[in-house]
Amino acid sequence: MNFSCPKCLTNLNQSQNTLLCVNGHSYDIAKSGYVNLLMAQKRSSHTFGDDKAMVEARKAFLDGGHYEPLKNMLCEIVKTYFPMQKSAVILDCGCGEGYYTQGLLDTQRAVTLFGIDISKNAVIHAVKRCRDESAHFAVANAFKVPLADGSCDGIVSIFAPYSIDEVKRLMSPSGFFIEISPTEDHLIGLKAAVYDETYLNTPPIHPEGMTLIERKSICYTLKLHNNSEIQNLFTMTPYTRKTSQQDKAKLDKLNELSTLVGFYIAVYRL
Ligand SMILES: C[S@@+](CC[C@H](N)C(=O)[O-])C[C@H]1O[C@@H](n2cnc3c(N)ncnc32)[C@H](O)[C@@H]1O
Repeated sequence: MNFSCPKCLTNLNQSQNTLLCVNGHSYDIAKSGYVNLLMAQKRSSHTFGDDKAMVEARKAFLDGGHYEPLKNMLCEIVKTYFPMQKSAVILDCGCGEGYYTQGLLDTQRAVTLFGIDISKNAVIHAVKRCRDESAHFAVANAFKVPLADGSCDGIVSIFAPYSIDEVKRLMSPSGFFIEISPTEDHLIGLKAAVYDETYLNTPPIHPEGMTLIERKSICYTLKLHNNSEIQNLFTMTPYTRKTSQQDKAKLDKLNELSTLVGFYIAVYRL
């Protein structure tokens, strides 16, 4: 199985360094190993990927192991739902720089993994992390995923935007959708260090037409002991885009931070 053509949704086949569909649409595979399947589109909130600084900050922060409990829990859940299922296809939708994708790959060596993200910078890092012939990466939009109908046994969305209609289109009849989202008080200590007034995150919404199989949560206190880790944590979040320079400057001399982190992990099926 391979990606589908984003123009006509027919299967893409590889010929040397190019992916080709039967209708003659072709996409070059970059030297670094990813393919760009993003169609020209109007800029909107749905097409706003992470920039280089955000991607590099996330990579450095995640490499520090601060969210390892979440990665481990995700991998345990995936093992439960795909025990020894050799032909399973899993999509990491909005895979970022591939930290969790790599975890999935290490857990389930037998699966075929697809990772997509709208940020080219993120995908370049994901390819580097997950060098394995069963992992395939594309720059693509989660709202128009270049994969065939019913082709995914598992779809994972970790802190990333998604379209529930796309999830339903992509899922095989026995497939699972795993959504990871922040708890209401996730990063409350970081927000308190930056903003005069903190606010809680909105709780996740049950996706329409899906059946909840299980929901778990993990919460713990994260303690950071140097400024670059604190800056990386802040820079990898969407707050980095909507915070004034004045508020950002509050982090400049901060060398200690204690904050709650919390994650909901929900497993759905059709
Ligand atoms: C908060 S990051 C999470 C990345 C990764 N899942 C992780 O947890 O490390 C959100 C990711 O979604 C990507 N993204 C945003 N809009 C997207 C879209 N329309 N399609 C695909 N990816 C998108 C961003 O580029 C970013 O990498």
